[in-house]
Amino acid sequence: MLYLDNAATSWPKPPEVAAAMTAFLNDVGANPGRAGHRRAMDAARIVADAREAIAQLVGASDPLRVVFGANATEALNLALTGLLRPGDHVVCSSMEHNAVMRPLRALEADGVQVSVVPCSPTGSLDPSDVEDALRPNTRIVVVTHASNVTGTILPIADLGWLARRRGLLLLVDAAQTAGCVPIDVAEDAVDLLAFTGHKGLLGPMGTGGLVIGERVDLGALRPLKYGGTGSRSATEYMPEFLPDRYEAGTPNVVGLAGLAAGVSWVLARGVLEIRRHEMALTAQLLAGLGGIEAVSIQGPRDAERQTATVSFTIAGCEPSEVGQLLDEEYGVLCRVGLHCAPAAHRTLGTFPAGTVRFALGAFSTAADVDEAVRAVAGIAQAAGSL
Ligand code: ALA
Repeated sequence: MLYLDNAATSWPKPPEVAAAMTAFLNDVGANPGRAGHRRAMDAARIVADAREAIAQLVGASDPLRVVFGANATEALNLALTGLLRPGDHVVCSSMEHNAVMRPLRALEADGVQVSVVPCSPTGSLDPSDVEDALRPNTRIVVVTHASNVTGTILPIADLGWLARRRGLLLLVDAAQTAGCVPIDVAEDAVDLLAFTGHKGLLGPMGTGGLVIGERVDLGALRPLKYGGTGSRSATEYMPEFLPDRYEAGTPNVVGLAGLAAGVSWVLARGVLEIRRHEMALTAQLLAGLGGIEAVSIQGPRDAERQTATVSFTIAGCEPSEVGQLLDEEYGVLCRVGLHCAPAAHRTLGTFPAGTVRFALGAFSTAADVDEAVRAVAGIAQAAGSL
């Protein structure tokens, strides 16, 4: 079996992840911040460790600026629905995932103005097109750091500094890049960074969050959830300080124990080293697939300009059919179709059938890539002989 669906969720995880989760369940098990007993303090330490690891990974000025939630989708909903009001204008790219597009479309129905800036047919975004789309009432520019369909990396630092010059906020969806592509929220001028724990950070599902920069007015950012925080229990209003303002309810400590272990593994290996490893494999995959006549590759076709995600089609074959053959005949597991990103597929010209997507990960090898290319060649050859 060959797992090539790391853009959906990474697998395998470092063994330390399951070990940390088991240790929490067996040896700690308490609710952090809700009591002063030793087990509650142990649980609080685990959450703090996870916060510190994320802050270190992305260069956040203070770990308390890392707010945990269920996933990147929840973090994007918090930022977008929390900040935008009727009459505000927001700009996004045409490569966004529905985690961005659906909250924006819902906000549009409430009177928020949405501009979708077209990307090129390879998914790249020209910052000057974003600048042209700005209006006096623009409040946020929101973009994916890298497309979940083609892996195309968008120029977040250019957009971040543009947003600073124009007095706007930049919100980045880092679901596909955290842990795989270096991010520094200070250098890249990112005001809000949404991340998920179960992809490049190698943690479990149900973990993720939002890194909130210093330019964000917490008074203007309404919480997504209201409830107990274990702090300021005498008041019926949410605390105004971070991270409690945005973390109502018992957190997913078992998940955060795993996330802390995953991020520690990433930090020990180094994001740059992971990036180098994945770039080498991506170049190999692009060359291998590029050598098969019936295959059309979407995206930049350049390992330096994309993540380790490669989308393609085979002439004469439906992506769904290819996905089924890959699984059943070759044991290759991948994701086909629209990848929850219809706008991206419209940009690429692959709507509505979509593409076949191979997504490599930190544990992928050169032998895996060879096997994947052989499988695609086999399917293309069989299709040609039908
Ligand atoms: N957004 C994830 C993917 O692209 C789930 O597969």
